[in-house]
Amino acid sequence: MTAKLIDGRALARRVRSEYRMRVERLVARHGRVPGLAVILVGDDPASHVYVSHKTRACAEVGLQSHVHRFGTEVSQAEVLACIAALNSDLSIDGILIQLPLPKHFELPLVLGSIARDKDVDGFHLYNVGALVAGDAVFPPCTPYGVQKLLEAEGIPVAGQNVTVVGASNIVGKPMALMMIRQQATVALCHARTRDLAEFTTLADILIVAAGFPNLIRSPMVRPGAVVIDVGINRLPSGQLVGDVDFEGVRQVASHITPVPGGVGPMTVTMLVCNTVGSAERRWGNELGVEKTYGADESRANSEGEKT
Ligand code: GUN
Repeated sequence: MTAKLIDGRALARRVRSEYRMRVERLVARHGRVPGLAVILVGDDPASHVYVSHKTRACAEVGLQSHVHRFGTEVSQAEVLACIAALNSDLSIDGILIQLPLPKHFELPLVLGSIARDKDVDGFHLYNVGALVAGDAVFPPCTPYGVQKLLEAEGIPVAGQNVTVVGASNIVGKPMALMMIRQQATVALCHARTRDLAEFTTLADILIVAAGFPNLIRSPMVRPGAVVIDVGINRLPSGQLVGDVDFEGVRQVASHITPVPGGVGPMTVTMLVCNTVGSAERRWGNELGVEKTYGADESRANSEGEKT
């Protein structure tokens, strides 16, 4: 078997053109352009690249973006003051703090200072809790992008075995929660998992976000599984690769995302979607917000339905 490639760039183009029209409608009705503010602290080269992708995606759909850059030594108080100003700035619909922050920052405090109705990354504890409870308004962008890729490919999730490798707050944990919401049976693996292959071979859908090139090789994948590679690793040769041995695994999987060109373009696209959704809600909800989440289903589940 040779797996079908899941083309994240093509889906990102389609979603962005849909959202470009939504931005045009907002501008026509309200006479102002939605805005995203990005806070970038320090000189991590990868963060600078990610932020440039984000601002480019904003421009592509007609959103304004404003990058607030600070040196590594900036005080937390100065960044908190910037966030407070953005919270009350009516021209700003979304605020994102590019991670990682330097070590002297208290991350929960900084993330918690973002107005929760502008928290387009979904990292404020309120939004994290909402994701657990099934009411997330701003789903975190990378897992949200993976969900969209699965949907667009017509891959069913309910009742499937999903294994998520990597338990970060940004990807693995919210990904597992989203899959649980869609009624998958979920295993969440991490660095202390004793026998990784025992769980990966169970998966109908294997989602890998661990940050280690070639962590997943073909014997670890069930024939016919869907493999989503969230990893982005730069090899000493300069080549960009994921966490999955692409050439080996594509021989056994039914579907696979390439790196680059799989999940990456969708992450940035979902940030745009969350920002436009925020503007639509904040400016009067006239267009109706896409109901990405079956909140009712998940509430029913958590409130006594047999699971
Ligand atoms: N750093 C790595 N991934 C992300 C992300 O999704 N959002 C933010 N804000 N920072 C990141």
